[in-house]
Amino acid sequence: MTSDQTRDEQTSDLIDQVHHEHAHLRRLFDDLASSFAQIAAGDVGEKNQSDVVSAASEELEVALDDMLEHFDQEEEVFFVEIERRFPDLKPRIESLVEAHEEMTRRTRWLHKQLGKSAEKLSRELEVVVDVLNSMAQLIDGHTQEETALFDDVLQKIPEGERRGLLEKMRQI
Ligand SMILES: [Fe+2]
Ligand SMILES: [Fe+2]
Repeated sequence: MTSDQTRDEQTSDLIDQVHHEHAHLRRLFDDLASSFAQIAAGDVGEKNQSDVVSAASEELEVALDDMLEHFDQEEEVFFVEIERRFPDLKPRIESLVEAHEEMTRRTRWLHKQLGKSAEKLSRELEVVVDVLNSMAQLIDGHTQEETALFDDVLQKIPEGERRGLLEKMRQI
């Protein structure tokens, strides 16, 4: 096997790892968007509706914790190191951090809406569905940008350092 092949395999392995957490979040927001679209369409009975809302609220709380942990590790470990070594990548890192903040902000907003009374929530269902759908788009764009950045960094660093970096990335 040539070293290029090894590198490509390591890189695609890494991309799978980076995607794993993102894919999990993506699925969660997709599922929530379709559940709330059904509620908005009047396809869910009142009793089921309150069960769906409280389950969704718990899922959002867990997702927020997972997200914050993932974002913190990226920002505190990788982005700091990448920016120190490759200052020209700063604008791309800033854009990734902005997306982290936006995803966190929207998830907190959603969680807050789900804590409101059924009557108040029923008046906001369409906005809730829109925001849930917007999260899926935001996650997709972020996944692409982040994967491209990690990929570029892996190409820029000496081959001997790649394995160490990949190992560290695997832990996030
Ligand atoms: Fe990430
Ligand atoms: Fe990220």
